[in-house]
Amino acid sequence: MNNFVFQNPTKLIVGKGTIASLATEISKDKKIMVTFGGGSVKSNGVYDQVKAALAGHNVIEFWGIESNPTYQTLSKAIKIGKEEGIDFLLAVGGGSVVDGTKLISAAIPYRGDAWELVLDNTLVGETTPLASVITLPATGSEMNCGAVISNTDTHEKYPFYSSYPQFSILDPETTYSLPAFQISCGIVDTYIHTMEQYLTFPSQALVMDRWAEGLLLSLIELAPKIQCDQHNYDTMSNYMLTATLALNGFIGMGVPQDWATHYIGHELTALKGLTHGLTLAIIYPAMLRVLKEAKREKLLQYATRVWKITEGTEDQRIERAIATTEAFFRMVGLPTKLREVEVDASTIEEIVTRFEQRGTVLGEHATVTPAVVREILTKAL
Ligand code: NZQ
Ligand code: ZN
Repeated sequence: MNNFVFQNPTKLIVGKGTIASLATEISKDKKIMVTFGGGSVKSNGVYDQVKAALAGHNVIEFWGIESNPTYQTLSKAIKIGKEEGIDFLLAVGGGSVVDGTKLISAAIPYRGDAWELVLDNTLVGETTPLASVITLPATGSEMNCGAVISNTDTHEKYPFYSSYPQFSILDPETTYSLPAFQISCGIVDTYIHTMEQYLTFPSQALVMDRWAEGLLLSLIELAPKIQCDQHNYDTMSNYMLTATLALNGFIGMGVPQDWATHYIGHELTALKGLTHGLTLAIIYPAMLRVLKEAKREKLLQYATRVWKITEGTEDQRIERAIATTEAFFRMVGLPTKLREVEVDASTIEEIVTRFEQRGTVLGEHATVTPAVVREILTKAL
């Protein structure tokens, strides 16, 4: 097991009707900016609940944080935040709203330009406290310090690390209004967050392996139930908690981590606008096929423990595990090939060139060079 330090300060408030607790969770002497996406919260009643809970508070609203939140939109919120002396931020929406609010939180006290913080995380200093009401289970942003910020001028999308939400409210009923496509992307995102921390090489972190396998098995059990009935409270609460636990640091203690699929996926989103979970569903099976020797031992463990594949030679079991994973993504409702989303070889070359220019090398063994990225994306065509 690798050395590690673990600390996660986010308080989770989970369950029906818990949005009302905003009234007491945020002190009345704070000047709050509540941040929103494009309006889903108005049609599903979340906005009304937030407004009622914060009736006695000093609040301004900022609307329009888009999916794959952009530096351009967030800069407007940062300007208002500085001018208005905002000292508490509440993000209400999906991972994009929470991610975007993390940049606002770091940039309000920062003297320079917010994009500098994205390019160089060491510049992040003091941050404005933030909290969230998460309405889309997927990113884990409600209980981690990560964010991913896009720049529409340069077509770049980069991870950014800042502060954790002080608290996050997870009311499973808020997920009832999610479009089926967003649920599909959320399930695959959660699955691959788990795999990025699990499917590397054996590290003797036994409890981490069992925990990760528990999350994967939960998703495999929950996915068809969600498809049958998205308004089942028990199903949606389990799904919501699984998504949070997959990327709040719990399964990452002392283990090697991969994240190559995420980095390649961010390029596909930045260049072609593809939804995050969709990029992962396409890249991941191809990535496993290309890197199956480096991941051999964990692939065999995954095949046995998660998919109960015990028959055949090692190579056959590995191939079946990869094929079954891909079939699961398709069952969930996502395509798994680039040609299905009209991405061709020219985009692959663009991504490879970008990684070459940045000197990017990915994966748990740092062996995923731009040439290997080309191989992975070509296999995904
Ligand atoms: O904008 P509104 O109108 O609110 O609609 C959103 C948006 O159109 C809608 N939505 C959210 N909750 C809803 C709902 N519609 C109906 N009912 C609800 N309850 O769903 C659409 C997608 O929302 P978005 O926030 O973009 O999705 P998601 O939560 O998947 O976030 C994606 C972003 O998170 C980043 C991704 O790269 C992407 O930019 N990630 C963040 C991570 C992190 N912070 O740790 C890790 C992830 O790997 C990921 O990279
Ligand atoms: Zn993700």
